[in-house]
Amino acid sequence: MEENSVFWDDAYSVGFDTIDEQHKELVRMTNLLFEGCKQGSTSADVALMKTIRSAVEYAQTHFYTEEKYMKQVNYPDLPAHKEEHTTFVSTVLQAVKEFEEGKSEPIALARFLKQWLLNHIAGSDKKYAPYLAGL
Ligand SMILES: [Fe+2]
Repeated sequence: MEENSVFWDDAYSVGFDTIDEQHKELVRMTNLLFEGCKQGSTSADVALMKTIRSAVEYAQTHFYTEEKYMKQVNYPDLPAHKEEHTTFVSTVLQAVKEFEEGKSEPIALARFLKQWLLNHIAGSDKKYAPYLAGL
């Protein structure tokens, strides 16, 4: 189902390979999570929990990379951008906790990830793209 998957489009490119590759990996991991939701939907599902944990970890590594480059080019909107990352991480960790406590479904987490990722890349990440052009 289209709704339960996410596709990379070259329109999402920020014109900087390291970041584009990481964004593609995040897209791949979100799809893995959608796949995992089809297989199992309880927090007792080891494979599913592993997928969720590695997606969260990878997102954090990716944010660190982005912030490092933005800092390097003195990107003026770095504080606001960083704030978006921080808010995202706490929202996701809260969602993971709720899932572990049986209060929510993993598909809700996958859909949130998809929406956030696409909006963030197409909106906020695109804004720093011109600044990385000189690197
Ligand atoms: Fe970002």
